[in-house]
This record gives sequence, C-alpha cells and structure tokens, in this order.
Amino acid sequence: MNVLWVFAHPEQASLSGVLRDEGVRALTEAGHAVRMSDLYAMKWKAVVDRDDFPEETSPRLEVASASRRAYDAGTLSADIRAEHEKLDWADTVVLQFPLWWYGMPAILKGWVDRVFVKGFAYGVTDPSDGRTLRYGEGMLAGKRALVVLTAGSREPAFGPRGINGQLDLALFPLLHGTLWYTGMSVLPPVAIYGADRMSAEALDAAASLVRSKVLSAATDRPLPYRHQNHGDYDGDLVLRPAHAPGETGLAIHYRAGDR
Ligand SMILES: Cc1cc2nc3c(=O)[nH]c(=O)nc-3n(C[C@H](O)[C@H](O)[C@H](O)COP(=O)(O)O)c2cc1C
Repeated sequence: MNVLWVFAHPEQASLSGVLRDEGVRALTEAGHAVRMSDLYAMKWKAVVDRDDFPEETSPRLEVASASRRAYDAGTLSADIRAEHEKLDWADTVVLQFPLWWYGMPAILKGWVDRVFVKGFAYGVTDPSDGRTLRYGEGMLAGKRALVVLTAGSREPAFGPRGINGQLDLALFPLLHGTLWYTGMSVLPPVAIYGADRMSAEALDAAASLVRSKVLSAATDRPLPYRHQNHGDYDGDLVLRPAHAPGETGLAIHYRAGDR
C-alpha cells in the first residue's frame, strides 16, 4: 500500500501520537510506504481564503467562488498542491484525530476544505451522459479511506442505542458526505474509546487494534454505502421507495442486506 497518513493532534506525546507511531511502524515493517501529513507540525493553515489562489488577480473574485472554480493546479498555493501530490500517490488515506465535539479538530476540517477542491476531489461529470460523479464515483475513486480516532466516551455510548449515536452514523458527514462523496471506499472507522482514562492493558489493546486495522486496510470490507448513480436514488437524490421501504434515517444509505 501507499498510505497517506493525515494526523491532527497538537501533541506528539499524546495517546494519539503513540497510536500513530504504532500504526506507521506496523505498516513500514510490513513493507508498505507511508507519507505523513502532521497538520499541527506543518502549521497547516485551516481556513480557505484568497491566499489559496495566489495567481488569481481579479479584485471582483469572491473567495467562496474561487474555492469552487474548476481545478487548475497552477492557481493553487504550494501547500495545497503538495497535498494533492501526496493524494495522487496514495492508494490508502488514513485520517487520524481525537474526536472533538463529535467531529474532526478544526485543523483537519480545514485540510479537507482546502485540499478537496473542485476538479480535484469533486465536481466532475461523466462525459458520456453528463451525470455528476459523486457518492462512490469521482476523482478519488479507487482509493481507500480509514478513519482512526480516539474518543473520551466509552464504547456503549456509541452503540446502536448509545447517547452519542452509533459511531458510523455520528460520523456520517465525514464518512459518507466527504469521503464516499469523493468516490473513496470508506472502511469502518477504528475507534479507541474511553481514551481519557486508559490502563496499560487497554493501551496495549488499542495499539494492537490500530496495527491490525491499518495492515488489513487493503482487504477489509468497506462500508456498504449505496452509489448515487446506480439506480437506488431518484432525480432528487431521494432513496426510491422500493429500497428500505418505510424507513428513514441515515442507515437507509447502506445497501439492503449489507447493514
Ligand atoms: C475540545 C474537545 C472536545 C471533545 N469532544 C468529544 C466528543 O464529542 N466525544 C467524545 O467522546 N470525546 C470528546 N472529547 C474527548 C477526546 O476525544 C479525548 O480527550 C481524546 O480522544 C483523547 O486522546 P488524546 O489523549 O490523544 O488527545 C473531547 C475533548 C476535547 C478537548
């Protein structure tokens, strides 16, 4: 595998840092290639602004519309182009972070905002029929994405009836709305629960879990999300009544029988 590991934690000496080192060591010892985007260490700029498009000189151009422009690598800042080069190289992308307020730390959200620009990560159409390629198809199709996170909550609270919601559904905006949207195959997230109070045994188990899940990333079964363009959705992108009849909620976007 060619693994791009995107790491979003301010402290190298954190639990997250220990787990990252374990995962990277396991991968490299097994002969895989790993490149790291350690966002805090890189002092990654987390907000989209005009500096992202240094070649764009029109004073009338709004930043928001600039970020939606068709991809033209020459107009993008060097730090974004460097991440594109790493993503082009990678067949597997690991996003690792501590769960903060149900989501990614802002620096990682900002990596997604700035790196996943139109024409690189989304916004392309199938020339044969004009359909927009997204949700299972698109620019990043063929790559696998694995989320590795630590969370303060204990595991039952992220279970089917847990107060946080089931983890894969709580992470729906990232897993489905971002990674699957861009075409990537999304692996079940790997979570280390109860991360604020860990015994030595629990830490060993967590390291072992991370090592094994990164090593099996090429072969593990991705989450069985439905493709946008394979017939399950109508023209308004609403799931057709024949699928998951009478059901609502985020889990209907898993293929029947695979849930
Ligand atoms: C700003 C902030 C927000 C947090 N939000 C959540 C949360 O929504 N759910 C949760 O289970 N834990 C939450 N936590 C706990 C962290 O997930 C936990 O401290 C971290 O994963 C421990 O790993 P670390 O030692 O590598 O930082 C939060 C912690 C902080 C500092």
